[in-house]
Amino acid sequence: MSNESLANLLKEERRFAPPAELAAGANVTAAAYAQASEDRLGFWAEQARRLSWAVEPTETLDWSNPPFAKWFADGRLNVAYNCVDRHVEAGLGDRVAIHFEGEPGDGRSITYAQLRDEVCRAANALLELGVAKGDRVAVYLPMIPEAVVAMLACARIGATHSVVFGGFSADAVASRIQDARAKLVITADGGYRRGKPSALKPAIDEALTKVDGVEHVLVVRRTGQDTPFTEGRDVWWHEITDRQSAEHTPEPHEAEHPLFILYTSGTTGKPKGILHTSGGYLTQAAYTHHAVFDLKPATDVYWCTADIGWVTGHSYIVYGPLANGATQVVYEGTPDTPHQGRFWEIVQKYGVTILYTAPTAIRTFMKWGEDIPAKFDLSSLRVLGSVGEPINPEAWVWYREHIGGGRAPIVDTWWQTETGAIMISPLPGVTETKPGSAQRALPGIAATVVDDEAREVPDGSGGYLVLTEPWPSMLRTVWGDDQRYIDTYWSRFSPGLTRPDGIWRYFAGDGAKKDEDGDIWLLGRVDDVMLVSGHNISTTEVESALVGHPAVAESAVVGATDATTGQAIVAFVILRGTATETPELVDELRAHVGKTLGPIAKPKQIKVVGELPKTRSGKIMRRLLRDIAEGREVGDTTTLADSTVMSLIQSQLPPTGSA
Ligand code: WT7
Repeated sequence: MSNESLANLLKEERRFAPPAELAAGANVTAAAYAQASEDRLGFWAEQARRLSWAVEPTETLDWSNPPFAKWFADGRLNVAYNCVDRHVEAGLGDRVAIHFEGEPGDGRSITYAQLRDEVCRAANALLELGVAKGDRVAVYLPMIPEAVVAMLACARIGATHSVVFGGFSADAVASRIQDARAKLVITADGGYRRGKPSALKPAIDEALTKVDGVEHVLVVRRTGQDTPFTEGRDVWWHEITDRQSAEHTPEPHEAEHPLFILYTSGTTGKPKGILHTSGGYLTQAAYTHHAVFDLKPATDVYWCTADIGWVTGHSYIVYGPLANGATQVVYEGTPDTPHQGRFWEIVQKYGVTILYTAPTAIRTFMKWGEDIPAKFDLSSLRVLGSVGEPINPEAWVWYREHIGGGRAPIVDTWWQTETGAIMISPLPGVTETKPGSAQRALPGIAATVVDDEAREVPDGSGGYLVLTEPWPSMLRTVWGDDQRYIDTYWSRFSPGLTRPDGIWRYFAGDGAKKDEDGDIWLLGRVDDVMLVSGHNISTTEVESALVGHPAVAESAVVGATDATTGQAIVAFVILRGTATETPELVDELRAHVGKTLGPIAKPKQIKVVGELPKTRSGKIMRRLLRDIAEGREVGDTTTLADSTVMSLIQSQLPPTGSA
């Protein structure tokens, strides 16, 4: 990052101390940082004791063959037992594990005792269908309790699940089933989306014409819609689970037994199957959920709005919260069905105390206006989380004010599918927070920012985010492709490959900077940095500057090839409900960016649009906007959440050339 651009994010001077009451009773205090830095492995060995091990591990980390790590390798445990049975055995069987809220307004509350029975029945059903330890099972389900049950049933018998997001196409499912060589697929007739039943099973039928090796398809009845059935292959979930015993003895599996594969969207090339294993993964998922959200399992009501198809759903709906005995909300639908206050209605209904959501959702709520959450009682909320992309300072402040009542601390959590669990985040009872910064590696985690030569940059400078010590929930490899694992994550800054200093550095692919206090600010994927007249400018910073103007709800910035400056900044903005597009406003926005970031960062063009193209996990697809900005035909849109968005945007813009 250039130093001009660097100076600007650092201008963010608002600070928010942790609430005194939360700090006084916090699960984790500042002492954890010191303890973990004195004895990092001892710290993680202690965290592993949050779990119930059938065989206690005596080894913590085996890093004798880097970058292939083994954690707690001589320990044995059953992940499902840890997430369910042990709470029932501890007398907590009547505690609600899941308050399920269906999109149409149906729902049920499932206690830990009931969840145990359902998981056992499903595990017995999988065994009856011939699934054995080590087999792979693909899961393609809406956000319904059976998704949680299916994942835990796999974990229980040692089958490795591969959850594929329910919004992915038949082709995307087929390539994932093929790559993992799944033996069974678990799906549903459909799910509810935007007020209507939306079919899922036909995508599986189509996918299975393209792959082989799948013996059975287990189908949950959710919507009751007409569903094609292949005799002999397809089995109704309720029919097979109803006749199973609710008893199943969990077998202990090796700590390094593969728990799941999760494919990263990967903007180019074949999707990567990120492999996570059992003991280390569950240790870090449970610890971080306890530490970052300050979870008090007996009194909190936790809600993570992610889909189970993403890693956030794996670690912070299924494994972390359930390992910790939490009570949580699982919601099937969209935030605006049947009205734009649906999330807040759910918070009020269940008395949600901890909310974990994404910046894209927060910006959407900003766009809808603060009078919508104001109609609901949100006073139960005490910790707010953010994940998925850098959160613009203005969105952060809005979230704190209008959702958190100006009192709930925000934890901006940086991590990835590959890291398995949160890595960089404030601690709500410890950290004085800064809007827009994830701040500091958690206790036991080592992160820093380096330059092209892998040298740590001084405070106040930018570069690449790297992780300099292995961590328990790290990916173990790319499924079936160890070389790709090495090439993608370890070759850029690590010894034996390019660096002689002996330090293995995991390259996250994100740009970052350290401020004068050494706090980390994430700047987006390195591919999203623009080069304007020889200056590196991050798309995130220009976007944050634009969202800092009262007329702007959301923005996406790209660098378009430019004959004079190399790249020129083109900004797409969505205005807030109260603003209207005028040439004066566009000039004002350009001037505003110039004032905030410096003249070099002034967008050459600002295009007012109604929507932005996003992936199904809410990330802006800048590649498609670059196509528009450069006047090209728009490229592959198959991973867009809403495929009509690009034509909508194009219809809202004047023909190219007239800017
Ligand atoms: C990428 C990982 C982690 C679960 C959801 C996404 C970006 C994620 C933050 C944050 C800035 C963030 C990074 C990262 N990202 N959280 N708090 N601040 N950027 O998982 O799909 O594997 O994406 O999301 O660019 O590398 P994922």
